[in-house]
Amino acid sequence: SVAPIVDVLQGKIAVGSTISVQGWVRTRRDSKAGISFLAVYDGSCFDPIQAVIEKDLPNYEQDILRLTAGCSVKVTGKVVESPGQGQKYELQATQVDVYGFVDDPETYPMAAKRHSIEYLREVAHLRARTNIVGAITRVRHTLAQAIHQFFDERGFFWLSTPIITASDTEGAGEMFRVSTLDMLNLPKTDNGKVDFDKDFFGKEAFLTVSGQLNAETYACALSKVYTFGPTFRAENSNTTRHLAEFWMMEPEVAFADLNDNAKLAEDMLKYVFKTVLEKRADDMQFFAQHIDKDAINRLESFINADFAQVDYTDAITILQNCEAKFENPVSWGIDLASEHERYLAEQHFKAPVVVKNYPKDIKAFYMRMNDDGKTVAAMDVLAPGIGEIIGGSQREERLDMLDKRMDELGLKKEDYWWYRDLRRYGTVPHSGFGLGFERLIVYVTGVQNVRDVIPFPRTPRNANF
Ligand code: 4AD
Ligand code: MG
Repeated sequence: SVAPIVDVLQGKIAVGSTISVQGWVRTRRDSKAGISFLAVYDGSCFDPIQAVIEKDLPNYEQDILRLTAGCSVKVTGKVVESPGQGQKYELQATQVDVYGFVDDPETYPMAAKRHSIEYLREVAHLRARTNIVGAITRVRHTLAQAIHQFFDERGFFWLSTPIITASDTEGAGEMFRVSTLDMLNLPKTDNGKVDFDKDFFGKEAFLTVSGQLNAETYACALSKVYTFGPTFRAENSNTTRHLAEFWMMEPEVAFADLNDNAKLAEDMLKYVFKTVLEKRADDMQFFAQHIDKDAINRLESFINADFAQVDYTDAITILQNCEAKFENPVSWGIDLASEHERYLAEQHFKAPVVVKNYPKDIKAFYMRMNDDGKTVAAMDVLAPGIGEIIGGSQREERLDMLDKRMDELGLKKEDYWWYRDLRRYGTVPHSGFGLGFERLIVYVTGVQNVRDVIPFPRTPRNANF
């Protein structure tokens, strides 16, 4: 029978039994005594298994001595306790079948050596074969599973929100257009404007920047829902934190205020960090050893920390009175830059921070107006080492206030008729937030760039593979 390598290495296969593993060669080493040691991985866990191959195998000269990194094989053999350091178990091979050799080992892009993370982006179709991308992929999976499990245990329902939409939820004008019109020959109306009646949906349509508005409609019936899916932003930001296509998880909760929202964010982050430390101990060990020595400590102290909470207005005072020199000047009304966020989390509070009640002018139309008339019930969660990973708010549930805000921003009521209906028919206080999934993975792994934690990154002038 064929077993995943993880089962053999974890001792789930009885010593003395004969099994097969299938995978790819990481390295081959030959001893003078005519024994070859093959390290084979199949992605089921961080470590490869060692297969010990003696020269009396019929295809030893012909096949085994030709094996190089990347060759695909099936190794059949007896599970034995490993005499050497490292793994507890290894395979005493009785048969090795080769599925595929590597054409030209000299030019194989993934030849066994250290590759820079930037180089790996250029070979995105092969980079999953490296230790680092394998570990990232397993951690990404476990984080996604943990998120689903966290919400399931708390009675939330997972909601699929549309990818094609007419709404610019965040109002930032950073939408990718979805159209079947011929861009070189656009149909025009009599007054010379583009005739969107002729487009597929009969109106302008875009890729979603957030599932929130749709999620609100279901929260106002099922009480607790969350979305988890791809999100698109045509932000021309070439930073280590921005992707044009990223994954976002957005819970939306009826009868919840901003404090409930902050508590939910804190509980969720701690839950998923605990899960990843438990379930991906081997991968986290690799990150701590090779990528960021603080990777495990950071999560452990996050789990044990009490989140700090600070009003935006107080955060501005802290930044104005501190010793640090910022590139972006600080005054009430600015949007916090990454350097400000990191100062607050890393230098001042030395803990994750929830910044609350931002000026209304830098936030989206749907956030609930505070009594001061100047700020809205918004919150960002800032993590030491990265800055904002969560953005959320209590939503404006009062129709008159929402209308006033939409008027101020020049938003057309008829475009939001369905959103306004929620405020007309049994409106309730409700809140939610959005977690950038790639920023979460960056935080967990210590890998510095969001481009390296999504399989095929999309950024300005790059949609390869
Ligand atoms: O702060 P944002 O824009 O909030 C929203 O979209 C709200 N509708 C969420 C809600 O209340 N339901 O985005 C949420 C998070 C950010 O905190 C950040 O982690 C991530 O999404 N994010 C990005 N991640 C990668 N690349 C980008 N271009 C991102 N833009 C936002
Ligand atoms: Mg934000």
